[in-house]
Amino acid sequence: MRMKIIGTGSALPRTRVDNGQMAEWVDTTDAWIRERTGIGERRLSTGETVVSLGTEACLKALEQAGIGAEEVDLILLATCTPEYLFPCGACQIQAAIGAVHAAAYDINAACSGFVFGLNAAQAYIRAGVYRRILVVGSEVLSKVADWSDRSTCVLFGDGAGAVLAQAREDGESRMLSSIQGADGTKGMVLNCRSRMMMNPLFQENPEEADTMYLTMDGREVYCFAVRQVAVCIAQVLEKAGLTPEEVGLFILHQANVRIIEAVARNLGVDIGRFPMNLERVGNMSSASIPVLLDELNREGRLHRGDRIVLSGFGGGLTYGACVLVW
Ligand code: UT7
Repeated sequence: MRMKIIGTGSALPRTRVDNGQMAEWVDTTDAWIRERTGIGERRLSTGETVVSLGTEACLKALEQAGIGAEEVDLILLATCTPEYLFPCGACQIQAAIGAVHAAAYDINAACSGFVFGLNAAQAYIRAGVYRRILVVGSEVLSKVADWSDRSTCVLFGDGAGAVLAQAREDGESRMLSSIQGADGTKGMVLNCRSRMMMNPLFQENPEEADTMYLTMDGREVYCFAVRQVAVCIAQVLEKAGLTPEEVGLFILHQANVRIIEAVARNLGVDIGRFPMNLERVGNMSSASIPVLLDELNREGRLHRGDRIVLSGFGGGLTYGACVLVW
């Protein structure tokens, strides 16, 4: 059984925030943000949620595929910024779209989450467990960003993307290979704490409350990304029996234009084959890849038979990639 993506969708909050506005909130400049990251503006939530954005993205993917929500077997939501610890966001999206026959659960692999979700969908489909799976990446990072820390808050944006993956017995479209990994020993270089322990027997130091926002050692993450993503893509291509020249597009997690350029250089691939949208939307963690995929799809830049590499990396630390025949 092969996995074919038959619909894509995305949703962004309505409010744009450019670097000039950021400079009013923290000590930064448009020039610094553009030079160091490639980001020009991002969308920030003024009430949109992981569930509302994810729901909109899913409905667009279903509409494009011409499939009713009740025909979906599983919803996998990649997010690290859920509104609730439980019910999970995937169950809330299931209710919102009326996917009455679908199982649903969340995946937290930070910025690698969407690729991990797609890899899981492929495994379910190949094993014959499910036939139609919505894989969603949805984040409202502005709710965990530290708005007094200029080194992190300027990087992130909110948004959601989704694909509908379907089992097919024939046709060229499929996933050729996948790879994923983690290095938990370096997890704290990019972290955001959950709730503190405050039970009747044990209370954590209230000063720890400061750590309940996103913190990052940018340099460490940068070095990890440049090194690991190139290795990971080389490995996933080798598994598929392909060389970089045989791939049409490399769709990477949109964290930083310099990371993407370094990966392209390491692979010896022209940067023109690495589409980017981070100038307009910033780093949306697990939503970055599916939003870009949807934009490319709707612009008619993906053609059946094209070979595409997806690769995500981030908190965990996690990394993953897959090769698709579109
Ligand atoms: O998706 C999750 C994965 N996350 C990432 O992939 C992020 C990876 N890391 C990066 O993209 C980069 O490390 C950053 C963009 C976060 C930072 O770039 P950098 O070139 O590593 O800068 P830096 O942290 O070394 O900071 C250089 C200088 C510092 O000033 P001093 O100490 O040299 O005087 C910072 O205080 O830039 C300063 N700085 C800023 N200045 C203006 C840090 N943030 C800002 C800012 N505006 N927003």
